[in-house]
Amino acid sequence: MNKDVIIALDFPTKDETLAFLDQFQGRKPFVKIGMELFYAEGPAIIREIKTRGHKIFLDLKLHDIPNTVKRAMSVLSHLDVDMVNVHAAGASAMMKGALEGLTRADGTRSLLIAVTQLTSTDAETLKNELLIDTPMEETVMRYAKNAADSGLDGVVCSPLEARKVKDACGEKFLTVTPGIRFADGDVGDQKRIMTPERAGQSGSDFIVVGRPITQAADPVAAYERCCKEFLGQ
Ligand code: C5P
Repeated sequence: MNKDVIIALDFPTKDETLAFLDQFQGRKPFVKIGMELFYAEGPAIIREIKTRGHKIFLDLKLHDIPNTVKRAMSVLSHLDVDMVNVHAAGASAMMKGALEGLTRADGTRSLLIAVTQLTSTDAETLKNELLIDTPMEETVMRYAKNAADSGLDGVVCSPLEARKVKDACGEKFLTVTPGIRFADGDVGDQKRIMTPERAGQSGSDFIVVGRPITQAADPVAAYERCCKEFLGQ
């Protein structure tokens, strides 16, 4: 799959989501559906957005015992989305279970991506709340290696780590990077951020952009600016 901008559809209802997408008219951006919308609307929202012709990253960040994740992934495999994810913190057995559950009888499956550390977690939180003394970058790299060794397709990570992840796990190992902000935009609760342009130069395959597009006065213009900065087109 080619490099792309993924819009995070962090809306509470189907109506708000579809009204947002209607603004794009002929364009069909790659979109991310997360917990808020999926829990509110269920699988029907996936089918509806797929029918409209969008690629979908279903961002449910599964994290449970291997058997539970395997079975849940098997259910999700029928939704036929383009990308799904798990927390790498669930460890290798869980990631392998996820991969097994996601693979359909004919051998096809969605891309499976692992979340390393949330981009809202900073070094202080890692040390003082999660009691992880290993430096942030080392944990991200180890989680990425675990994901690669388990057969996953890539990781969600900060754009600040994308280059190093590729250097360690190979060029083909995908990096999906949230924490994107325009140079002149609000940071919000994200802590490890980068502009679309820098992310494009730093080895991100997909940038995930929420509020800088969804809360913009002109979301279509903000999306186009993102594509231009990230893809250079
Ligand atoms: O609004 P904003 O651009 O910060 O949205 C980023 C999106 O990416 C949100 O949907 C958030 O849940 C998601 N995400 C993240 N950090 C991760 C994984 C996912 O911000 N590590």
